[in-house]
Amino acid sequence: MNNRIKLPLFFTVLMFSLFGIAQPKPKADLLKIVDNALIGASNQYKFLMTQVPAGVLPKTYLATKKLETSSSTWWTSGFYPGSLLYLNENANDAAILKEALSRQSLLTKEQFNKGTHDLGFMMFCSFGNSNRLAPSKEYNEILMNSAKSLASRFNPITGCIKSWDHGSWKFPVIIDNMMNLELLFWATKNSGDSSYYKIAVTHANTTLKNHYREDHSSFHVVDYDPTNGNVLIRQTHQGYSDPSAWARGQAWGLYGYTVMYRATKDKKYLKQANDIAQFMINHPSVPADKIFYWDFNTPDIPATYRDASAAAITASALLELCKYTDAKTSAVYFAFSEQVIRALASKTYTAPIGTNGGFILKHSVGNLPSNSEVDTPLTYADYYYIEAMMRYKAMAK
Ligand code: GLY
Repeated sequence: MNNRIKLPLFFTVLMFSLFGIAQPKPKADLLKIVDNALIGASNQYKFLMTQVPAGVLPKTYLATKKLETSSSTWWTSGFYPGSLLYLNENANDAAILKEALSRQSLLTKEQFNKGTHDLGFMMFCSFGNSNRLAPSKEYNEILMNSAKSLASRFNPITGCIKSWDHGSWKFPVIIDNMMNLELLFWATKNSGDSSYYKIAVTHANTTLKNHYREDHSSFHVVDYDPTNGNVLIRQTHQGYSDPSAWARGQAWGLYGYTVMYRATKDKKYLKQANDIAQFMINHPSVPADKIFYWDFNTPDIPATYRDASAAAITASALLELCKYTDAKTSAVYFAFSEQVIRALASKTYTAPIGTNGGFILKHSVGNLPSNSEVDTPLTYADYYYIEAMMRYKAMAK
């Protein structure tokens, strides 16, 4: 072999061993759809901006044609500013940035909120993105205080962060909590204090042991005895039944264990993320357009609701996970995400500008058993859809 052949081969082998598999490449036609969808999303959120009263955050838009909002304490408060930050990152728009920063400022006081596990959602989707895009001492301090507040809910006996303070549970932990760990990894990286990292790893290990079933689906809630760490009960509070697989819960777990692998490089988390992905994408209930029904096991499939939020979270997670797997699996994950993005960008799920209360996506389910937010838009469906599209675009570079 002469040197003209040897050198490129050497670099190819080096790239493969350093960075793993070659990344799947976005398709030109879908990139165009994504570009248009992101421009549409900016225009739609410019309409939403005119609808949201001062001092609150949008939550959903109900069939009664009413915008529902929340205060900064509600778990979804970070998604609206977070979506605006992504949209500004995509297309540099002063009005969108101004709205993002002004709504984000409503959340500042939540850095000291020790009454919720949702601080990752609330603070990392808002201030976390702000700090990523324009790091500042102020954001740094807010995020460190948020991590401290979140860590205060960790109990070394259960090996978990407590999710809820309400209800009759003793120490409830929900699968959603996997999404709040990214803030703790950031805190250790930023401060050098390994205690946050250790809490995140312990929580993820306990959840892996107690939330997951043999088929790699997950319960929603595990209640622990805080005096000895024993599991008291396993439930699926927001799903069809306790043994069922609530779609968004599966998506939170998939995204969460993908982040766990990114942060620790521990192969056990990669296996877990892959197992969850395989359970989800191969499940017989998955419809042709890949937008999951709200629960994988609800007996009224197909005459029931889709959950665009679960599909959007999954698409975003798989676009990251596909970078960590072998080429064949990577292509499967990538294709699944592409199908989800294509479907969400279609008229079936994307609302015309000026309708849907200003939200981008239709057809999500918040909490069906409580008859709350059924077949409605949701801020987090929009957020993870935008994130998935940003990730897709970034893979073209
Ligand atoms: N974290 C609450 C939910 O996913 O509905």
